[in-house]
Amino acid sequence: MTSGHSNKGRNPAPSALIFDSGVGAISIAREIRQLLPGLTLHFGVDNGFFPYGDKTEEALRPRIVGCATAMMERCGADILVVGCNTASTLALPSLREKLSQPVVGVVPAVKPAAAASHTGTIALIATEGTVNRHYTRDLISEFANGANVINVPAPELVRLAEAKLRGEAVTEEQLAPVIARIFDAPGGELVDTAVLACTHFPLLREELARSAPRPVAWLDSGAAIARRVQWWLEQLQLAQPATPGHGKLMCTATDEQGRIAAAFREFPLQEVVDVVSPAGQE
Ligand code: DGL
Repeated sequence: MTSGHSNKGRNPAPSALIFDSGVGAISIAREIRQLLPGLTLHFGVDNGFFPYGDKTEEALRPRIVGCATAMMERCGADILVVGCNTASTLALPSLREKLSQPVVGVVPAVKPAAAASHTGTIALIATEGTVNRHYTRDLISEFANGANVINVPAPELVRLAEAKLRGEAVTEEQLAPVIARIFDAPGGELVDTAVLACTHFPLLREELARSAPRPVAWLDSGAAIARRVQWWLEQLQLAQPATPGHGKLMCTATDEQGRIAAAFREFPLQEVVDVVSPAGQE
């Protein structure tokens, strides 16, 4: 053990909790399942405070810590995956301070996008919160490698991704304002790489690609998160079984449980949706 984290007293079948305000956790979970098919996945959905993108940092930080702590306690996962850029860019240090388990966060794929771009112009598409965060600005100054980064707040894509997972069609007309914000921005004619810096957005990758005026690369961090989870499992010396167990689906509000359960139906989950109150906020 090199990590200082302990797996003592935990379930023999390893598990991870993926936390988000909504269905964004699914884009991360698909990547984890592909790399680690035997890992049991639990989901924590803070539907009671959705969406995160337009909330203040002061309101979000304690909320995220309270929810993730209570949900980790409820499901007994070995690793917390913050499957949400808005939460990761804000709350990772507080979560790591509070939890004894490893915490894996999502970092917008600015570095690989800057490395992949031939024109030196990339678009960073995210919630308003993520676009405006110091964390994101620091990431750009450290890793954009001189690339011109066009910041594109696209809060409407969060709701459109939720609608898609409810079975509704997402049209080019609905995406047009976001596409215009990317390609009609000053310098937008040079964009060849777009960073999907909200975990809801990879769920709309095909629709975005179809609506764009020309082909560009749409990059996200899901595969990198999955590799990081694999690394932690190795550090914790947790071997995966051949098939995953049934995970818990937890949310924070009762009103939309049916819709949430339907959105997550591609994963093996226990039938009951657990309603969890954020720790320290009751
Ligand atoms: N999925 C989240 C993210 O990655 C946020 C969506 C929201 O605004 O709640 O940023």
